[in-house]
Amino acid sequence: MEDSRIGLPIGTALDRFIKRFQDDFPYATGELSQLLRDIALAGKVVNREVNKAGLINLSGSIGSDNIQGEDQQKLDVLANIRFIRALTKGGEACAIVSEEDEKITDLHNNGKYIIAIDPLDGSSNIDVNVSIGTIFSIFRRLSPVGSPVTEDDVLQPGSSQVAAGYLLYGSSTILVYTTGNGVNGFTYDATLGEYFLSHQDMKIPDNGKIYSINEASTDDFTKPVNQYLDHCKKSNYTARYIGSLVADFHRNLLKGGIYIYPSSKRYPEGKLRLMYECNALAFVVEQAGGKASTGSSRVMDIVPKDVHQRCPLYIGSKSLVERAESFYD
Ligand code: AHG
Ligand code: MN
Ligand code: MN
Repeated sequence: MEDSRIGLPIGTALDRFIKRFQDDFPYATGELSQLLRDIALAGKVVNREVNKAGLINLSGSIGSDNIQGEDQQKLDVLANIRFIRALTKGGEACAIVSEEDEKITDLHNNGKYIIAIDPLDGSSNIDVNVSIGTIFSIFRRLSPVGSPVTEDDVLQPGSSQVAAGYLLYGSSTILVYTTGNGVNGFTYDATLGEYFLSHQDMKIPDNGKIYSINEASTDDFTKPVNQYLDHCKKSNYTARYIGSLVADFHRNLLKGGIYIYPSSKRYPEGKLRLMYECNALAFVVEQAGGKASTGSSRVMDIVPKDVHQRCPLYIGSKSLVERAESFYD
């Protein structure tokens, strides 16, 4: 089956797909293409480590806390090392923001791109063989190449992303990304060591019946959130919550649904991080025809003040997100 937008069939290797897109832009230097390849390669390495985690005692805590004060897992640290190494060696990135590093990593090179990354999302699920992921967001630097990276280079709104996506290490491993020209998914074939186009020009159903939220926190939620949850129940929706944002998001992208991590008494700004969780998925969902909101405004319009800033998130099928927003009006 050929996709009229891209002219490449299901089963096309990721490399070929990336090259085809690059060829469509005569002035493209190939650096963004290479950056995507670097991320895909680091994803292969992390995939291998995720798969053997139970075998070589990689699961479990190493006893240190990350800057969020949360328990840091061995695979969190490993995935961070793998991605930072791949991005540093590649030379296309000039700075990296990671969930696992308090400060921005300035690579002091001539790279054009800033990367924000959650190297391992869903770390509470590592020990129990449940799907986890990696989330990435890519910006072009604003200051001239060769000068020191500035705060303005890094603190750009999601609407300035040039590419974003995620890897889901699940029953199969899939890389889903957008460069602002639709969303495509590539399933990893470990026997061949290659990703192949499996989900062309992905579109999220406009409607759906799945709602995904940690409902144990209802006492902490505000009235509009609880009213919306009552609405979901009365509408015979079904609840699905894995506790790995990437996995919950991916399911809803395919089937139609809404994922919510709202502000609460415990997390007044929500729990998820704007720069390396919310923005990337917001770009993907908008490109797939869905919506990402804070409950009252577009996620991608927020200009970050801090690289680790949090943000309430309502993301998924357009009509479901709009319905949730209507409880705030
Ligand atoms: P991370 O593992 O990168 O810290 O992210 C965990 C996030 C997200 O993946 C998930 O949806 C959410 O935390 C779950 O939070 P609760 O346990 O509060 O539901
Ligand atoms: Mn995360
Ligand atoms: Mn993480």
